[in-house]
Amino acid sequence: MSVRTQVAIIGAGPAGLMLARLLDEAGIESIVLEARERDYVEQRIRAGLLEQSSVDLLERAGVGERMRREGLVHHGIHLQFSGERHYLPLSELADGRSIMIYGQTEVVKDLIQRRIDDGLPLLFDVSDVAFEGIETARPRVRFTHEGVAEEIECDVVAGCDGFHGVCRPTIEGRLAFFSREYPLAWLGILAAVAPSSEELVYAHHPSGFALLTMRSPELSRLYIQCAPSERIEDWSDEAIWEQLQLRLGLEGWDLAEGEVLEKGITGMRSFVCEPMQHGRMFLAGDAAHIVPPTGAKGLNLALGDVALLARGLIEWYASGDDATLTSYSAACSARVWRAEHFSYWMTSMLHRLGDDPFEEQLQISQLRYVVSSEAAARTLAENYVGLAADRFAASLDGAARRIGPIGMPR
Ligand code: APR
Ligand code: PHB
Repeated sequence: MSVRTQVAIIGAGPAGLMLARLLDEAGIESIVLEARERDYVEQRIRAGLLEQSSVDLLERAGVGERMRREGLVHHGIHLQFSGERHYLPLSELADGRSIMIYGQTEVVKDLIQRRIDDGLPLLFDVSDVAFEGIETARPRVRFTHEGVAEEIECDVVAGCDGFHGVCRPTIEGRLAFFSREYPLAWLGILAAVAPSSEELVYAHHPSGFALLTMRSPELSRLYIQCAPSERIEDWSDEAIWEQLQLRLGLEGWDLAEGEVLEKGITGMRSFVCEPMQHGRMFLAGDAAHIVPPTGAKGLNLALGDVALLARGLIEWYASGDDATLTSYSAACSARVWRAEHFSYWMTSMLHRLGDDPFEEQLQISQLRYVVSSEAAARTLAENYVGLAADRFAASLDGAARRIGPIGMPR
């Protein structure tokens, strides 16, 4: 069967779902296609740190009610190295801005629930998604749903289908790629125990990085650095707690243990594709860029992308003015590259990168500089809480000039 919509959105992660919500608010129709089952998408444990701008976007989009109730506002973080724990008062250092701990999983649940309450199209478990006519004014999306071949005719395709999706490969001949692989991974657990610290603890340790974070007053989220080749089956809960105790341990402070509810290993990479548009296909979120998780930027970048894409589409539908839409990729580039650098910097400063003692001393020197110089602390803080939008005037940025505006097929 063939149906018509304005925007076909591929992927029901935070990027695709938020785009659908913002478009609906402006009266623009969309259909969201998701490869996985609803349960899978709602159970998948991901990052959980929202910048102020992401919190504001969720509120503006009318999906902030549970976040306001259950989200945990944070004003600082601890940096730990050489057996010392230092507090960085992020809000003081970054114009009063704060961050919020609220799981990506919860953001996704809230957006799915809203879409369903609104009675708007969101199809799970679709397969064989393929495109035609991306370089024309009438692209088509073909897919299979419940065993039936379906087709959507639309104005624009939004590729919000993550790093392993089908949208980017469709246009990859038109894109440039920038990437870095790290010999690093995070082993993460969700544990049924009250967080042992009110604020997050980022720990540099000779045995490797560790992070204490949380999901609620009763749920801790903890990570340790491991090798990407390691298998989660080879890590007993005891071995994980032992490493957490070793790496986060501090005299006079106890790390409380609890039942491990979930565990997994995630590799790390940095990746950017440019531009984030070809013809009538626009990429957003992980489909276009990946950051290592150390700076907690992935979710915030994805939401930042779709806020801008929605604005471009709303202006275009309202008046035919495509200035914002055609400069979407250029306008995203400065923010994307800033997050790429920050995540790379945090990752390199905090992880064990091999056996080189010279490297380790450089890291410790840098960490000491961050906790002892207000200028250095401010650099970390303003990147961590998210730089204000006016720092990203596209016209000032080299990447933006390199990309420039990209026309749309008419
Ligand atoms: N067809 C339809 N949907 C697909 C396809 C496909 N061929 N391939 C992938 N998907 C779906 C995935 O199942 C997933 O639900 O697209 C969705 C992409 O969602 P995310 O991976 O969450 O990506 P995004 O919305 O960009 O959010 C970025 O996710 O990985 C984290 O750290 C990252 O926090 C960041 C956030
Ligand atoms: C998380 O809560 O999962 C989290 C927090 C901060 C990070 C990464 C992950 O830097």
